[in-house]
Amino acid sequence: MIKPEDQFKKVISHAKEYGYVFQSSEIYDGLSAVYDYAQNGVELKKNIRDYWWKAMVQLNDNIVGLDASIFMHPTTWKASGHVDAFNDPLIDNKDSKKRYRADVLIEDYCAKIEGKINKEVAKAEKRFGDSFNKEEFVSTNPRVVGYQEKINSILTRMGKSLEKEDLVDVKALIEELEIADPLSGSRNWTEVKQFNLMFGTKLGASADSAMDLYLRPETAQGIFVNFLNVQKTGRMKIPFGIAQTGKAFRNEIVARQFIFRMREFEQMEMQFFIKPGTQKEWFKHWKEARLKWHLSLGMGEENYRFHDHEKLAHYADAATDIEFKFPFGFKELEGIHSRTDFDLKQHEEFSGKKLQYFDHEENASYTPYVLETSIGLDRMFLAVFSNSLVEEELDNNTTRTVLKLPAVLAPTKAAILPLLKRDGLPEVAKQIVEDLKWDFNVFYDEKDAVGKRYRRQDANGTPFCITVDHETLENNTVTIRHRDTMEQKRVKIDDLREIIKKEVDVKHWLQKMN
Ligand code: GAP
Repeated sequence: MIKPEDQFKKVISHAKEYGYVFQSSEIYDGLSAVYDYAQNGVELKKNIRDYWWKAMVQLNDNIVGLDASIFMHPTTWKASGHVDAFNDPLIDNKDSKKRYRADVLIEDYCAKIEGKINKEVAKAEKRFGDSFNKEEFVSTNPRVVGYQEKINSILTRMGKSLEKEDLVDVKALIEELEIADPLSGSRNWTEVKQFNLMFGTKLGASADSAMDLYLRPETAQGIFVNFLNVQKTGRMKIPFGIAQTGKAFRNEIVARQFIFRMREFEQMEMQFFIKPGTQKEWFKHWKEARLKWHLSLGMGEENYRFHDHEKLAHYADAATDIEFKFPFGFKELEGIHSRTDFDLKQHEEFSGKKLQYFDHEENASYTPYVLETSIGLDRMFLAVFSNSLVEEELDNNTTRTVLKLPAVLAPTKAAILPLLKRDGLPEVAKQIVEDLKWDFNVFYDEKDAVGKRYRRQDANGTPFCITVDHETLENNTVTIRHRDTMEQKRVKIDDLREIIKKEVDVKHWLQKMN
């Protein structure tokens, strides 16, 4: 087993070593919080995107897709509230000259208290063994209850102060908790200030006629401004959804934790347009549906939890995060927001165009309410990748590094390996590649001993290794080795397609949502 503190470092180095993620512009020493997806990473990312798209668009007859531009009319961002309110509260440390997000400093402080709770739970679990009741313990143990109350009171106060824009109190909270700069240990802080996260750019050739633009900080607004176009041309009836995947840009100040928080990232968002007054029931529906989508990948129910928001964004009347247990703890993976009619009403007001829906059943027009699901593709990539990377002790006292990616998402589905580089074995193996490549990404490898090749494919996340040996020449059979169990079976070459398909087919995985 890899120790938790080393797991994250291992994830980052494995992602580079096996061609998943590289630092952007590495030859120039890189660009902070910007990353490139390499030959395997691009396939994994595409497979995650497809898995989301199929679940959203292909399987729901009332959800359609869209691909809106990154550039949008600048008034879009005035209307959406991003120009005025898309800010992070920042604080500088006067000694180290480092800049931090004030809310993140406070949240990290609370995470440390949560660490103490987890320690108490682990100790008690050890002491009481099978008779241990975790729920009862955390609700009755005075020390744990005290810790939890402290967390709640800190987060509630922070939420209220941020909501009221009371930045003086946010700083007071940091001082009262005696939070120090994690790098220098200094408590010499500046005031807390708001900082807008949008990147600006210019459209047009000459300086005087150029128009100030923003790179979109979320894909959602492209959906809102196209709402009526899609509704009319697609003859969509409420409730219906519009789904989109694409790049978004944020000038993140605390850009760390690898691809968890990037300055250029990809979102997969779906806006579901509903009748006003039905938002509570749709909020519940999408919370459940999205969690089921995550669970269908089999990455462990215990690694997910909901976190309902205390502080709501300027557009929401309810919001929750699906949090995932990353190597550095539970963090937001996906947001589910009940956005009311805020965005459509704002765009109506700023554009002067009606964005209403005529409901034939009600015989009335109204501005729909919107339920949004929004997940970061890169964050999902990190969740899948970090969860899949394990180091296993084997019976013969050796270890193997294996990337147990859900087979449906794996970049390469099968590696075809001739046992030897002679006796006609490579020719047969290459023929198998030719046959299978129409259906799956497959990989041919004849270099090194077969055991070494198996290990390479394990670390690469390839679910199947198919080995061609001398018996193949006699009876057209090969061995197929399963990455996770390392079990090998002798099967007919003619059956390979079906065997692989059964395990990598999207249908097989997505059906687990039902
Ligand atoms: N349209 C709503 C919206 O953008 P958000 O909570 O700001 O909501 C949604 O972002 C998701 O986008 C997050 O749950 C996260 O997965 C992803 N995300 C946000 N900022 C990110 C960043 N800087 N780097 C990577 N992913 C990010």
